[in-house]
Amino acid sequence: MSLMKGKNVLIFGVANDKSIAYGIAKQMFEEGANVGFSYANQAFEKHVKPIADKFESKFCEECDLADDNAIDELVKKAEQVYGKIDTIIHSVAFAPKEALAGRFLDTKREDFITALNISAYTLVALAQRFERILSADASFLTLTYYAAVKTFPNYNVMGIAKSALESVVRFLAVDLGNKGMRINAISAGPIRTLSARGVSRLSDMLDAVVGRAPLHRNIDIEDCGNLAAFLCSDKAKNITGEVVYLDAGFNVTAL
Ligand SMILES: NC(=O)c1ccc[n+]([C@@H]2O[C@H](COP(=O)([O-])OP(=O)(O)OC[C@H]3O[C@@H](n4cnc5c(N)ncnc54)[C@H](O)[C@@H]3O)[C@@H](O)[C@H]2O)c1
Repeated sequence: MSLMKGKNVLIFGVANDKSIAYGIAKQMFEEGANVGFSYANQAFEKHVKPIADKFESKFCEECDLADDNAIDELVKKAEQVYGKIDTIIHSVAFAPKEALAGRFLDTKREDFITALNISAYTLVALAQRFERILSADASFLTLTYYAAVKTFPNYNVMGIAKSALESVVRFLAVDLGNKGMRINAISAGPIRTLSARGVSRLSDMLDAVVGRAPLHRNIDIEDCGNLAAFLCSDKAKNITGEVVYLDAGFNVTAL
């Protein structure tokens, strides 16, 4: 298949080959896209560079999305390599570990701000600063979780960040839509990744899906890649502002 043939896709959030962003990069590559990578800091370079090579990438650059100047520098580099960008994958989240255990009631102001900044504002920053070099029918995709709308033990401030992120998707859909561009979110079921391991009782979340979801199984990063390729392709040209659940149906059940 070649859903993304010739499209320039920039992917934020590959930490290693377990990352959801890795599953998306793989599928985008297989669908014919030119995939570029950006990683948070030096520590990730040794993991991401070989992945970029594997997917024949011309672009693999460091960028801390907390830093607007760094994003502006990245936009310039992306323009030099690709000219225009067709798709941006935002698969990025962070909250201090201590905020992801115990009572939400005890969340510190600084941890709240950090979680919202990295996990939600960074999507605004990317849309704002890449706007200049986006193609006319560009698409964005981000990753969210069901804790945006229901409580989960220990997910705490990240649930608030995901609620904000889903709202960001709707508001950006309006501004981007006026230009013919789209943005959507995948609400993925739990997957054992580097970030997910930071949430206490991840195993309980995985077991709950197997027990209660209509399909009685967990999803994987390949599922994320398949849905991402569809949502970012022209086949989904009239889908925007949506949160699409990819959770074996877990969210439609109550017991
Ligand atoms: N794994 C799950 O169970 C699950 C479920 C639903 C949604 N998600 C979401 O999927 C996305 C990807 O997470 P993942 O599970 O693949 O874990 P991951 O740890 O592989 O990816 C998270 C990425 O965020 C990046 N990041 C953090 N701070 C950054 C910064 N300041 N600048 C640039 N990048 C930064 C990390 O470097 C990492 O690559 C996250 O938004 C996460 O909340 C994950």
